Amino acid sequence: MNLSLIVAVGKNNEIGKNNDLIWRFKEDMKFFKQMTMGHHIIMGRKTFESLPKLLEGRKHLVLTRSNLKFPEEVEVYQSVEEFLEAYKDIEDEVFDIGGASIYKELLEYANKLYLTEIDAEDKEAEVYFPNFNKEDFDRTELTHFKDEKTGIKFKHVLYKRR
Ligand SMILES: NC(=O)c1ccc[n+]([C@@H]2O[C@H](COP(=O)([O-])OP(=O)(O)OC[C@H]3O[C@@H](n4cnc5c(N)ncnc54)[C@H](OP(=O)(O)O)[C@@H]3O)[C@@H](O)[C@H]2O)c1
Repeated sequence: MNLSLIVAVGKNNEIGKNNDLIWRFKEDMKFFKQMTMGHHIIMGRKTFESLPKLLEGRKHLVLTRSNLKFPEEVEVYQSVEEFLEAYKDIEDEVFDIGGASIYKELLEYANKLYLTEIDAEDKEAEVYFPNFNKEDFDRTELTHFKDEKTGIKFKHVLYKRR
């Protein structure tokens, strides 16, 4: 499977609080939309619940161990193994869009990591991106931005597995 991971991290690898994102930058939302549009996106149940609505133009896959009801457009998997088996022959790029637990569980299967590296921190963060061995990846800086509203700088970085 051609699995990529996409995430926005603060200086301490913080990614969320109150089951929500910490920062929302227009240019980062645009990047996320551009990268994932037309593709499959896999996420944990909590991240799914944090979405305001289904994201247009993308096939949603959700991991949950529960028997909760999901909209009929959503494919549900009860384990990572079940998902990997179902998607092992797919050619499309599948994006892991979080949250922390799904990043951690799928990191070893991902060939590309798209990180938005944000030059800010939040001591109240509750969830963090897992540590990964940067030596296993080639790092390319794709863009540099300064958010107009907050003045916070961020960049999009691709880590490609060697
Ligand atoms: N900064 C970013 O780019 C970014 C991106 C995404 C999310 N986030 C943030 O991350 C936070 C959510 O992360 P999280 O770690 O708390 O939750 P999560 O990973 O979104 O969801 C966790 C849930 O996924 C299900 N799950 C996890 N592993 C599973 C497995 N192996 N098999 C089946 N189901 C599995 C379980 O659902 P059940 O409890 O239903 O069984 C678990 O409670 C939020 O704050 C969100 O805003 C940030």
